[in-house]
Amino acid sequence: MHKTGTFIVFEGIEGSGKSTHSSYLVKKLKLLKVPCVYLREPGGSKEAERIRNFLLKNSNKKFDSLTDTLLYLAARNENFLNKIKPFYKKKVIICDRFIDSTIAYQHYGLGVKKKIINLINREIMGTTKVDYTFLMYLNVDKSISRISDRKKLNRYDKFKKSFYKKVQNGFLKISNKNKSKYMVIDSSKKFETNQTIIFNQVKKLINK
Ligand code: TMP
Repeated sequence: MHKTGTFIVFEGIEGSGKSTHSSYLVKKLKLLKVPCVYLREPGGSKEAERIRNFLLKNSNKKFDSLTDTLLYLAARNENFLNKIKPFYKKKVIICDRFIDSTIAYQHYGLGVKKKIINLINREIMGTTKVDYTFLMYLNVDKSISRISDRKKLNRYDKFKKSFYKKVQNGFLKISNKNKSKYMVIDSSKKFETNQTIIFNQVKKLINK
């Protein structure tokens, strides 16, 4: 397998299978000796993980939505500088959540102005771009029932169904605007079926 640096992101609402699929993909790539970096957001780099802990473990504390947004973006800046920029176009970078999560949760979900998010994202990223995104799609009711089975709840796991619907629609709007760079994966299908679809697409991307 030819190894080109490609930046791949997994997005979706909670319980949609992003983390399961992205971690499985990384294991497969590593077995094939494809140099890759596996990251998550918020988090990734050491300092960004500290911001993640602060944000998600203090889920009983309610920040203003702009404060919330700035914390996610602060974590992104740390992750980008330390873990993405050094490997961009050199290794396959797989990131569990990225910019689209900020647009979907903070803009579509919480009503923070898109202009502010885009401005700071551009400042962080410069000319760096995500090459391809897998959007894991799961019915909101199923997502909520999967989340409620979890022992540890995240900041947004306690939000109402209407919030998740807004976030889900936000993700779909984003993916519809740039169809050639997105693949929507139906998470209600069998894991093996979806993993095959994802892996075939990744092979195409990294062989380019
Ligand atoms: P997760 O990665 O374990 O799903 O948890 C991360 C939580 O943070 C999840 O509720 C989505 C949320 N989030 C945002 O609200 N905005 C962001 O920009 C990112 C990256 C995550």
